[in-house]
Amino acid sequence: MTWSPDSWKSKPNTQEFLYENPAELDAALARLGELPPLVTSWEIERLRSYFAEAEQGKRFVIQGGDCAETIADCRSDIIANKLKILLQMSLVLIHAGHKPVVRVGRFAGQYAKPRSRATEVRGNLELPSYFGDLVNRPEFSPEARRTDPMMLLRGYEHAALTLNFVRSLSAGGFADVHHPEYWELSFFRKAELSQTLRDEYEQMTRRLSEAIRFMEALGENTVEELTRVDFFTSHEGLNLHYEAAQTRRVPRRATPYDLTAHFPWIGERTRQLDGAHVEFFRGIANPVGVKVGPSISEGELLRLIEVLNPTNECGKLVLISRLGASKVETQLPRLVGAVRGAGRNVLWMCDPMHGNTHTTASGVKTRNFDNILREVEISFDVHETERSTLGGVHFELTGEDVTECTGGAAGITEADLDKNYASVCDPRLNYRQALEMGFRIARRMRVSTAPESHRSNGP
Ligand code: PEP
Ligand code: CO
Repeated sequence: MTWSPDSWKSKPNTQEFLYENPAELDAALARLGELPPLVTSWEIERLRSYFAEAEQGKRFVIQGGDCAETIADCRSDIIANKLKILLQMSLVLIHAGHKPVVRVGRFAGQYAKPRSRATEVRGNLELPSYFGDLVNRPEFSPEARRTDPMMLLRGYEHAALTLNFVRSLSAGGFADVHHPEYWELSFFRKAELSQTLRDEYEQMTRRLSEAIRFMEALGENTVEELTRVDFFTSHEGLNLHYEAAQTRRVPRRATPYDLTAHFPWIGERTRQLDGAHVEFFRGIANPVGVKVGPSISEGELLRLIEVLNPTNECGKLVLISRLGASKVETQLPRLVGAVRGAGRNVLWMCDPMHGNTHTTASGVKTRNFDNILREVEISFDVHETERSTLGGVHFELTGEDVTECTGGAAGITEADLDKNYASVCDPRLNYRQALEMGFRIARRMRVSTAPESHRSNGP
């Protein structure tokens, strides 16, 4: 079957938005198609080579950001704080894993959200659900919920503004973040934390500071090498109109690139083998991700791999498992085993957020720090047992002081959730929880990198 940037249109789409006025949609897409790309093919190729190395355990990937980015939150402080937490987590992981860490943001285009229901009912009124700022607006009114083609352009513009700021900050605006002694770590002293963990966190921070000072003493180039902040961009490629309009051939390359992001992914709800999303993604040169939930069979997974990476290239396909803390131990081994048994090259990442969402008695969607951590830790264990590699982690997080997930040393309880619940979609780790998660993953990584005779998971 021949592929084109539009061949997905003849396939079933479980998350279709109906644009009322085709002429208006065509005009927006025509404009989007002539605007400059957000990323370049050589950046995408660089990320693909990094992913290939992560597959072999030579790099580790951290991917993170909002569940749903919003145009309203396209603000300097919010963007800078998100980069800061990703950078700090990455430094902790570099130190623990003794390997370079690739940073991938869920930003500059994470504006389209799959929904479990196409419509939302409040009282007597039924309106289309909010599908993210790339599609419609969150207020509950017929005008706001209309699928508006102009949002494709607004989304693109705000992705460009975000990326412009990310690129500027990456080029040198982060000097103090390199110094753990300036990080806001005082919350580690809180009573909820065991003495053992508190001591460990302090020790890790001290060692990291010493290592960075040592690198500085060696000369600036080395420090810059260690902390050069490359950020790549990613989002769920849900609105295929948007993705297709920016999909182009570049000189001397046979396969077109989706130039809205370095690393677009297919969500758990849209990975049907005969569906529109798999059709679109099979034709682009970018590395692509697929979310893998507990309902997938081994056969289905292997067929997806065959369609999305038929030539078995390294660095091309990322499987992002999101199974839940209670299922990961039973479900991940069969999936990892099937992929390894078939000799397929994939980069495995763990998304410990989406299988661990629950609703409190008072109706608030939340996630617990310990469940999130447990899914990551068990994923490391399973990959080790199966002689596979866990090459990265994927988080919904923010650099702000929100109260959306419970637990962690910051001691957020269910009663605290309404203090500052700001997400328009899923609950995110806040700055402290995310940083602590970095320390906990570092602790688990050190178990793997320690010589066999020194291994102990500690108390
Ligand atoms: C998401 O990443 O926000 C998401 C919707 O995830 P999943 O497709 O895994 O449910
Ligand atoms: Co989400």
